[in-house]
Amino acid sequence: MLEQLEHIQREALEALQSVQDEETLQAWRVAHLGRNSPLMRVFSDLGSLPKEERPAVGRRANEVKQALEAALEEKSQALKQAAIERSLREERLDVTLPGRPFRRGRLHPSTQTLRRILSILADMGFQVFTSREVETDEYNFQLLNFPPHHPAREMQDSLYVEAGERGENPVLLRTHTSPGQIHAMRYFAAMNPENPPPIRIALPGMCFRHEQITARSEIQFNQVEGLAVGKNITFSDLKGTLADFARRMFGSQARVRFRASYFPFTEPSAEVDVECFVCGGKGCSVCKRTGWLEILGCGMVHPVVLQNGGYDPRRYTGFAFGMGPERQAMLRHRIEDIRYFWSNDVRFLEQF
Ligand code: PHE
Repeated sequence: MLEQLEHIQREALEALQSVQDEETLQAWRVAHLGRNSPLMRVFSDLGSLPKEERPAVGRRANEVKQALEAALEEKSQALKQAAIERSLREERLDVTLPGRPFRRGRLHPSTQTLRRILSILADMGFQVFTSREVETDEYNFQLLNFPPHHPAREMQDSLYVEAGERGENPVLLRTHTSPGQIHAMRYFAAMNPENPPPIRIALPGMCFRHEQITARSEIQFNQVEGLAVGKNITFSDLKGTLADFARRMFGSQARVRFRASYFPFTEPSAEVDVECFVCGGKGCSVCKRTGWLEILGCGMVHPVVLQNGGYDPRRYTGFAFGMGPERQAMLRHRIEDIRYFWSNDVRFLEQF
């Protein structure tokens, strides 16, 4: 019996050496430590041995069992360790491989120009003030001193949201950012109606006109309006501000000129041209041989408009100007057709 146990142990340990995976290890366990294994049969046959042999055989059988269990445990640990090492080896990441490039989005050329304008104006002390795109005739026209039958109100120029039902004050999409002047003045005047604070703001936003869409005119476009109201603000403040703006926007050499013009909400009014930055004023196709590019409209805030905003025109003056980011982007990048801006063609948008 004792010899048989030696044999069982040797056989089992030998068999264990060739085990290389968890599955065969389980089979080995069944074969050598399982209920029908030779070792377990020794245990069940103990009863049939002569009494005096039983203790020695029993003790030896237990030793063999412990030895096999220890060997099983050791093998199991070794297999686990080997598996870990294999996965570390095979699943290793090569961090030196170049990454896969991904497509990055970018800002729309209008947004880029808009932000540039606003950041220059912010440097000059103009705070952003936004107001709504859907306006009433009152804010878009009446409070801005448009005469009652001004052509801009007519169907070919304004996009009406609720025409007819509201009589004299229909709802429309703003045709310019100037109604923001009234909203802003009323907002600031409400802070201290007796002595309203000075204002220096930029009013950006989308505007809409009922236009035939062509290479030069769109149904929607952005504007950035500037408004300064305070005591002793003069036309020279307006000129200095816009000349400074042009230098910051178009380069330190940029010269501007003012041409007399007309807007109902400013008096006097002017249009501002900047010297053509493509040809330096010599005359080219971008400036149509004139050497100048028209970039904005401006003027001193009309007394009626100040009054409508809650600012007493006997004590306050102000200036306002309005410009179009798309127009500036077109000039800067020589974009020949304004329709590219809202047609969402990535071949166009990708270039900025
Ligand atoms: N609102 C005018 C336009 O749409 C531009 C402008 C703004 C002119 C402010 C003067 C002062 O053309």
